[in-house]
Order: sequence, then C-alpha cells, then structure tokens
Amino acid sequence: MRAVTLPAPDDMDAWREAARALVADDVPPERVVWQVGAVAEDLFAATANTPAPTPPPASPLRVSRAFIALAGDAILHRDPERFALLYTLLWRLRDTPRLVEDHADPLVRRLEGFAKAVRRDIHKMRAFLRFRSVADDDGTERYVAWFEPEHHIVRANAAFFVNRFASMRWSILTPEVSVHWDGAMLSEGPGATRSDAPDGDPIEEVWKTYYSSIFNPARVKVKAMLKEMPRKYWKNMPETALVPQLLAGAQARESGMIERARGDIGGNAQAAWEALREEALACTRCHLHRHATQTVFGEGPVSASMMFVGEQPGDQEDLAGHPFVGPAGQVFDRALAAAGITRAETYVTNAVKHFKFEPRGKRRIHAKPDAGEIEACRWWIEQEQMLLRPKVTVALGATAARSLFGKAMTIGRERGREQRLPDGGAAWITVHPSYLLRLPDEDARTTEFARFVEDLKLAHAAVAG
Ligand code: URA
Repeated sequence: MRAVTLPAPDDMDAWREAARALVADDVPPERVVWQVGAVAEDLFAATANTPAPTPPPASPLRVSRAFIALAGDAILHRDPERFALLYTLLWRLRDTPRLVEDHADPLVRRLEGFAKAVRRDIHKMRAFLRFRSVADDDGTERYVAWFEPEHHIVRANAAFFVNRFASMRWSILTPEVSVHWDGAMLSEGPGATRSDAPDGDPIEEVWKTYYSSIFNPARVKVKAMLKEMPRKYWKNMPETALVPQLLAGAQARESGMIERARGDIGGNAQAAWEALREEALACTRCHLHRHATQTVFGEGPVSASMMFVGEQPGDQEDLAGHPFVGPAGQVFDRALAAAGITRAETYVTNAVKHFKFEPRGKRRIHAKPDAGEIEACRWWIEQEQMLLRPKVTVALGATAARSLFGKAMTIGRERGREQRLPDGGAAWITVHPSYLLRLPDEDARTTEFARFVEDLKLAHAAVAG
C-alpha cells in the first residue's frame, strides 16, 4: 500500500504531484491511501515498507483542461473520498482520455456533483459574507467577518475578497482557518469560533442600499426574498433586519421613490448587478440546477435601453456560461445587426437560467421548461428588470412572454404591437430565433427572418419614442 499525506485539505498542487508520481510508478487506485496531515514534509510519506513514489517520467500523463477544472473544484469538497475518487478518474484517463466528457459515467457524475456543491459554496460565501468594523490594536479600522463554509473553499475564495476589498484591512474567520488582509499581504491563521467575531452593523450600509434599491415589495414577495437567503445565513445579514422597513415604505416606493433610490446607488448599479449575478450563480430555486453545468445569467450593460429575454440557455450556453452564444445566438446577432441595434444598447437574458435537457446517449436534447420552472426563475428576471429598468423589453418566444406577462401569450396575435408589462413597462413580443432555425425550407427562413427583423426594428423605434 502507498499512503500519501497531503499538507492541507485543499492542496491541489500537492495532490497533483503525488498523483503524477503514483501514475508514473504504476500504482493502481486501490493501493493508495490518501490522508491529510499538518506536516508538509510528510507529503510523499510512504508506509513503513513501501518506497516513496519515484519522480514523474519525462512525458507524464497529459490530462485535459476539463479534468484539471473538475479536479480543482472537486478537491475542495469535504468528502474524505475525494482524493481517491480523483485518482481513480485520473487512472482511468489512461485508457479513456475523454472520460471527463462522459457525464453519464457514475464516477464523473459524482465528481461533478462535488464540483458543483463547491462552486455553490464559493458563491454563497461571496454573496452572504458580511464584514463588521472593529478597531485594531493600533487603533486603525479593520473589518471582520465570520463565515461557516460547507467545504474547504476559504483559501480558494480569498483572492476574490482581496480584489473586491483591496483597500480595506480585513479578516475572515471560519472554523477551519482564518485569512487576514493588511492592504498589501494575505496571511493565514488558525480557525476561530463565532464568538471571536464582532456583532454589530457598519459597512452593511452598502448592502442595505443595494437591497433597498432593488426591493419592490409590490412585486417581490418578502417570503420569496427570505427563501432565497437560506436561514443559516440570516443571523449575519443586515438586509433581513431591513424587511419591516421596506414593507412600511412600499407605498412610497410605488409612487416614485424607487426611482430616487435607484439614483442614489447611481454608479453602484453595476456593483448591485454583480452581487445579484453572484447570488444567481448559486441558485437552487428549482431542480434544474442539479443537472446543468452552471447558471447562465443575463449579460450586457446595466445602462442598456433594451432588454431581450430568451427561453433558457442551450447546450453551448450551458457550457460557456454566456447567453445566446450558440446557433440561435448567431441568428439573433445577425437580426440585431440587420435591425440596426448595437450590443451596447442591449442586455440579453433568459426566462430560465439553467439548461433543461434530456440525455440521449452522449447528447443533451433541449427540453422545454414547465410553468413551475419558469415561475421559480421569475425571481431573477424581476430583479434584473428592477435594476436595469430598460425602456423596452422584448420577449423572444412563448416562454419569455409567459415569464414576463405571468400568463400564456399567443405570439402570432400579439407580435408587431406594443404591450404593457404588469409593472407598466413597454414590451414587444416576437418569435424565438431558434424557431427560424427549425423552419424546413429556405424561402420560409428568409421570409420569417425578415419579419423577425421588422419586429426588432419596431421595438427599437419605441426606445426613442
Ligand atoms: N436560446 C435561448 O433562449 N437562450 C439562449 O441563451 C440560447 C438559446
């Protein structure tokens, strides 16, 4: 048996080196025991009678980027079996180099599940962590946050907080490890307990402003808002304390104050949108997140005057993480250009943010989202609308129309004329670009493409009007 002791539970580099050496030594997975210890020198420790792995050969096993990405996430999962499972996958890649693409393989599926749980935890930490202000020993201000991650994500996430709060001095305390930023250097310390972190408010004003600016109780129900913030995070969150105030202010907001609140956040709209997207990336509001690769959130400038809403990401969008990049996206781009609409004017999103499909062999066949899935995802589109307040919204196809209007709409009857959204905004309904791709003959495609472009031109003209 070989025993490999990794210096830390999230040390991908150490795992990779050890795994490479084991493969080079031809050691099968069932002969390796993986463990995590505190002593770095133990990294390649072998059990009493076994030699340490020899260094990798001149041409080591080459693995795909997909494997490295999967392993990089999955290794942060708290399941103690993760190192062994990853090594088994690596071992099998020798005979099946493209195994990582086989989403039906039980081992690949299990590791993808790990990776997904880890990504969700990373996003939760970004969205729900809150700093509180304390005075350091030398009297300077430091911001301290307490967080309880489910997986070993703290080190992997530290760079995000360094980037976002580069000019502040801060500490993030978690049960396993603490990380500290002094404005120039990141350092690490031992784990902490909740009582080590301060209670209180400050800095949270930023978040309160964000939430009050996007929160319109007439359309977003408080219950839904709280559902989105898992209960275990409530105690750390200033915006839950804000809910009664928001409710009391509902009438005033309805009569125009929301515009002022929006003005108040001004340049902050971009930051608010980023925070919203961050949360959406961890969305589990319906079951679709379980099988999709990732949330595909809307894209485009927050100042866009036109918002286009599609149905749901397709296969390529799901993999790329961006809306309308596949075949339907190409038709859409051509039509926008033909209608004289520039990208800078448009924000493009979908009614449903996860890819729904049915596996057929190695292919994933698009499946239509049902009413429950559309309803669950309305939470996001409503917030996108509130943040962007586009002059004109365009529903591309029946799913988008259903989501925006809250009821079934007949495209043939409603297209070509301005509609009113439930919040009073101007909207247009037209076909989905994939409809054009499905048309059987060239003549029909040409005619219908021209009609689609005409619809877009009408909607565009309404922006100026
Ligand atoms: N179809 C959609 O509705 N949205 C996309 O992002 C891609 C295809």
